[in-house]
Amino acid sequence: MRIVMVGTGYVGLVSGACFSEFGVDVTCIDSDRDKIAALAAGRLPIYEPGLEALVARNVAAGRLRFATELAPAMAAADAVFIAVGTPSRRGDGHADLSYVFAAAEQIARAIAARTVVVTKSTVPVGTGSEVERVIAAARPGLAPGVDFDVASNPEFLREGSAIEDFMHPDRVVVGAASDHARAVLGALYRPLFLRETPIVLTSRETAELTKYAANAFLAAKITFINEIADLCEKVGADVQEVAKGIGLDRRIGAKFLHPGPGFGGSCFPKDALALARTAREHQVPLHLVETVTAVNEARKAAMAAKVIDACGGSVAAKAIAVLGLTFKPNTDDLRDSPSLVIVPALQKAGATVRAYDPAGMDAARALLPGVAFGSSAYDIAEGAVALVIMTEWNQFRALDLARLRALMARPLMVDLRNVYRPDEVAAAGFDYVGIGRGRAAR
Ligand SMILES: NC(=O)c1ccc[n+]([C@@H]2O[C@H](COP(=O)([O-])OP(=O)(O)OC[C@H]3O[C@@H](n4cnc5c(N)ncnc54)[C@H](O)[C@@H]3O)[C@@H](O)[C@H]2O)c1
Repeated sequence: MRIVMVGTGYVGLVSGACFSEFGVDVTCIDSDRDKIAALAAGRLPIYEPGLEALVARNVAAGRLRFATELAPAMAAADAVFIAVGTPSRRGDGHADLSYVFAAAEQIARAIAARTVVVTKSTVPVGTGSEVERVIAAARPGLAPGVDFDVASNPEFLREGSAIEDFMHPDRVVVGAASDHARAVLGALYRPLFLRETPIVLTSRETAELTKYAANAFLAAKITFINEIADLCEKVGADVQEVAKGIGLDRRIGAKFLHPGPGFGGSCFPKDALALARTAREHQVPLHLVETVTAVNEARKAAMAAKVIDACGGSVAAKAIAVLGLTFKPNTDDLRDSPSLVIVPALQKAGATVRAYDPAGMDAARALLPGVAFGSSAYDIAEGAVALVIMTEWNQFRALDLARLRALMARPLMVDLRNVYRPDEVAAAGFDYVGIGRGRAAR
């Protein structure tokens, strides 16, 4: 099998490398020449555990290559995947499909023999039909179902565990309108099928909507436990134990019940917005999803207020040390990270913010002006009145609290991820503020 990946970002690069590991011949295309030049030189544009070795192995085996030109790569391809970005359109929250349609036009011009065009990007329901129209309009001689097929194959990988998620997914969703598309995608995913991975074969529309429904549901689950955490703080209950108590119920499940500063990242915020937008257009407002977005936005601002409150009501001219900036550990992705709201709010209140993140600082420099970046937790803690755990990187799970206490102006930990046990932090001489932990949360 031979495939082309159009868009070599988090999804395109991981999917391309994993397909090549299955033995498929893969060319990853990107319009960003610097990105392709770096990849061709063996440098990865993103941080993702295990990816560097996977890419190197498959490049060395001759199954994976990188290019900027689409036509030569598509000459003998069975399928071409669209894995470009679908960010929020400025102003209305709808998914910006301009990259998808531009890719579809380029693909139309490059189709040489019957090709399955697979949308892997997260796209609103109905986009597959639009892509079909765009291709037919760009090359009027081409007929869908004869010269090309458009299929939907949404991606569910999580940054930070992307390879494991691709190789051992809970399911693969394929939306296709033709037997040919189903056969090609079936052959590509055969190694997963042999491992008894459930394959949901359905229509394009159902596949497209399944992706949004999944992300909106997970975002709602996080938002639910965040609101329960707020109530726990008022009534003296412990949200960690509430989460355990409900998560053991298999109808609920333990995952995505970790309270925190609000969800972020390149998917949940934009996908929840876009789904709500699509639903409004069809006169079926999704009130629950709209509320999830509103509650989550308000939460990020509330977290800055929580830090200020913990510092005694004012952070003017005080130094605050922030541990972690990325929206979750094991990624360098800062897209829609809560830190991008919380840190500027602290600065606006007069604080001097120092930060350390194991992988996100390069991206953060441009996004968080005025922040002093350090080289470790201890480096940024000196003279600080508070240590804020923003992202639960493993490096922050076993900090030397005695050393930190000696460095800080005031030993206060604001643990926005509930990484620590309140009693162990208190035993080390710290004041502790967590999320939803009754009196200990204060
Ligand atoms: N990041 C995730 O964890 C994740 C998970 C599941 C689904 N998704 C979805 O997958 C899609 C891609 O997300 P991402 O995070 O990989 O985005 P990304 O921004 O990291 O990568 C997109 C890449 O596409 C390239 N590109 C854009 N137009 C192009 C064109 N016409 N030709 C060639 N290259 C082009 C860009 O230069 C960029 O490198 C989005 O729809 C996203 O919602 C992302």
